[in-house]
Amino acid sequence: MEEKEKNLILDDEQDILLSHEYDGIQELDNPMPPWWLYGFYFTIALSVVYLLYYDVLRIGPSQSEEYQREMEQAALRYGLESPTDIPAIDFASLEVFSDSENLEAGRQIYIRPTQLCITCHGAQAQGLVGPDLTNDYWKHGCDLAAIMTSVKQGFPQQGMPAYGSGQRLTDLELQQLSSYLISLRGTMPEGAKPPDMSRSVRCDL
Ligand code: HEC
Repeated sequence: MEEKEKNLILDDEQDILLSHEYDGIQELDNPMPPWWLYGFYFTIALSVVYLLYYDVLRIGPSQSEEYQREMEQAALRYGLESPTDIPAIDFASLEVFSDSENLEAGRQIYIRPTQLCITCHGAQAQGLVGPDLTNDYWKHGCDLAAIMTSVKQGFPQQGMPAYGSGQRLTDLELQQLSSYLISLRGTMPEGAKPPDMSRSVRCDL
């Protein structure tokens, strides 16, 4: 009885044995397991439904409609007239930070390798390729708003990319960084680069 059963299985194997053979290894053409097959059919069915719902009948919102909707909700939540009515921060209305926490945050940004400030202005802001940022002679203004604008826009013609490296900073980060630079005023670091008097003006805070 047992012998017979074994033979049956072996007989079946003959039917599903594939014709190729490599190095004596043969392969059986076993069917895929049902759970796998049904999962596969399910994804096909789902893709048809998805296609109809979003792309053919357009019942569901498109990505740009979803974006639009979220912007409108945000405008409602923040009491704005329209989604594009986000007020730009007026740098002149901001205050120079003097607390150690924000100044330390500013210092961290200044020395951050990806921001590149120290490559051009030096670790003590004493000036290298770029000008010394610790003296009283400035080309583009020395108050908080002016420095924030200098960093935000850079001077591509003169060799300074926006944000130093193109890696964007938030307004708060600009404020921290610029406050840190202001805190360095008058530190007279060793080897400070002499100001370019043809373009700089004395600037008192
Ligand atoms: C690739 C070199 C380079 C990098 C990187 C760079 N700077 Fe500059 N920076 C310059 C040069 C050159 C100038 C002078 C521009 C001019 O002559 O008008 C300048 C000018 C400035 C000024 C205006 C100085 C003035 O006299 O008004 C500030 C402020 C400043 N940089 C801050 C920064 C900060 C902060 C960073 C990092 C986020 C940075 N820079 C990164 C080269 C650089």
